[in-house]
Amino acid sequence: MLQGKKAFIFGVLNDRSLGWHIADQLHKHGCEMGFSCLPGERFERRVARATESFRPRFLTPCDVTRDEDIAAAFQVAAEQFGTFDILVHSIAFAPRETFEKPFLETTREAWRTALDVSAYSLVALSRAALPLMNPGGSILTLTYHAAEKYVPDYNMMAVAKAALECSVRYLATELGRKEKRIRVNALSAGAVKTVAATGTGEIDRMIEHYRARAPLAWGDDASSEHVGKAGLYLLSDLASGVTGEVHYVDGGYNVMGW
Ligand SMILES: NC(=O)c1ccc[n+]([C@@H]2O[C@H](COP(=O)([O-])OP(=O)(O)OC[C@H]3O[C@@H](n4cnc5c(N)ncnc54)[C@H](O)[C@@H]3O)[C@@H](O)[C@H]2O)c1
Repeated sequence: MLQGKKAFIFGVLNDRSLGWHIADQLHKHGCEMGFSCLPGERFERRVARATESFRPRFLTPCDVTRDEDIAAAFQVAAEQFGTFDILVHSIAFAPRETFEKPFLETTREAWRTALDVSAYSLVALSRAALPLMNPGGSILTLTYHAAEKYVPDYNMMAVAKAALECSVRYLATELGRKEKRIRVNALSAGAVKTVAATGTGEIDRMIEHYRARAPLAWGDDASSEHVGKAGLYLLSDLASGVTGEVHYVDGGYNVMGW
């Protein structure tokens, strides 16, 4: 399905990462890939090991809060790929204290950091990607239900996800109307135990909640694969008429009223 296509993927840390499961599906369908990870030998070794089986064209460091890192990462993509078709943004971070203290205690600095890493980075990466993307290309980000509804302790990350989802609509409109007609969508995943999710402090309790409420089974190993397969759909031509959407992949959890 993706023979001859190339994807630049941000946000794989290990083989539990949602970005890894999206990459796995892209790989199974013939897509060539390049990856980015946080700078530092420890991260680079870890991500190189996790992505080895995909035989990536490159792995390049990038802290998305640094404009010079973003420029350098896309320079590598230009050299290795020339042009590419798919951008995956699977990145989020909020300082630990924001999950532990009441929302009312949010500091200006914590607000800035969460919004910068988790939402602004989509805009910055999309802008850097655009000149290198082929017509009809697709951009995908990962979001969470807390953007819309109160979720205990999610606090700043919820605000960042709301900004991220709104950014998807603005980017989708602007990029869809340009000559290249790039699509931009978000995948809203149900709770899955990853490093980032563990940082929220409540992941086991959240997964229990999904197990009890979601119409379909959620919280087992297949959940991440469901996310990967929905990512494949949104990033491929199967979703050629879909842009600006927040698409839930959560076993139906979000439709429950009681
Ligand atoms: N796991 C879940 O339950 C869940 C549910 C819904 C949405 N999501 C979203 O999925 C995305 C991926 O998270 P995950 O759960 O796979 O966890 P993960 O920890 O595997 O991935 C998070 C990634 O963000 C990267 N990152 C953090 N700060 C960065 C920075 N400054 N520069 C560059 N990269 C940075 C990390 O290196 C890591 O690769 C996030 O946006 C997360 O909010 C996760």
